[in-house]
Amino acid sequence: MSFRLQPAPPARPNRCQLFGPGSRTALFEKMAASDADVINLDLEDSVAPSDKDQARKNIIEAINDVDWGNKHLSVRINGLDTPYWYRDIVDILEQAGDRIDQFMIPKVGCAGDIYAVDALVTAVEAAKARTKPVALEVIIESAAGIAHVEEIAAASPRLQAMSLGAADFAASMGMQTTGIGGTQENYYMAREGEKHWSDPWHWAQAAIVAACRTHGVLPVDGPFGDFSDDEGFRAQARRSATLGMVGKWAIHPKQIALANEVFTPSEAQVTEAREILAAMQTAKDNGEGATVYKGRLVDIASIKQAEVIVKQFEMING
Ligand code: COA
Ligand code: MG
Repeated sequence: MSFRLQPAPPARPNRCQLFGPGSRTALFEKMAASDADVINLDLEDSVAPSDKDQARKNIIEAINDVDWGNKHLSVRINGLDTPYWYRDIVDILEQAGDRIDQFMIPKVGCAGDIYAVDALVTAVEAAKARTKPVALEVIIESAAGIAHVEEIAAASPRLQAMSLGAADFAASMGMQTTGIGGTQENYYMAREGEKHWSDPWHWAQAAIVAACRTHGVLPVDGPFGDFSDDEGFRAQARRSATLGMVGKWAIHPKQIALANEVFTPSEAQVTEAREILAAMQTAKDNGEGATVYKGRLVDIASIKQAEVIVKQFEMING
């Protein structure tokens, strides 16, 4: 470890973030009753411009009146390039109670975007004598966002989570695709007449994980648009979990169980991790730093790898 230690991210499950438009009030109770760890009530791109004011009122009412249980409750505000975002924050913090946990800022492009929101949130919280500070989460979904990802991850102690937003990201990067996450038909290598698909989101995801882990922020995979494709969702989510992400969005309730399944370490993974820790304890007792587990090397780094899985499992299971 370098002299500067890696800070721990917030110790709360974030396996699935369920989205619903602020204009569809009939969904709120269903969202609250779901198995998602995080709820994202949306004021941004799932709400038409003519509905923005009503959606904001709906969300204020829902924050106050719906029983959200122990869910982490987040509201996605409008982007900083719109005329709506300041009123999203001011009205919600002036009129909604303490049940709100977090604001999600879309399309962030630099640390200054978070600075601006932090300043406004801090001012309204002080004016209204609110005692529970609201956390922030951001979406990286533009060329500027990914280019400045590390300064964004470091921008505010309020920042808890960062998601990759595949659709806006693809548009901003000029990617030749209309798919939202997952395998893209034309992103392949060819050999001996066979196609081998690769992952066009890999670099952005790895950059987000590195920035988040450096600054104690939770890295999250964003939406998977084709909610009829369970196999594709699972494969995308498994790649994200393998890269270090802790969860994924659900844009339809069908996707909640899939995300929870992938981002909860399986019994087999936990058993193996515990066996590695036990093997390393025996090695340590024998004065050794490395040993053999099931025919392969395990050493002191293996302890840290195994602990990632065991700690995640224990945190999720309370
Ligand atoms: N949260 C909770 N419940 C939801 C839901 C959601 N986001 N979306 C749909 N449901 C419910 C429906 O009300 C329906 O319930 P019922 O069985 O009691 O009637 C059930 O799940 C099946 O819904 P379905 O008919 O398949 O979907 P739909 O046509 O009503 O809606 C979408 C489909 C995609 C428009 C809708 O899921 C949605 O708005 N998703 C979120 C979009 C969003 O927030 N985007 C921004 C982030 S990318
Ligand atoms: Mg977006």
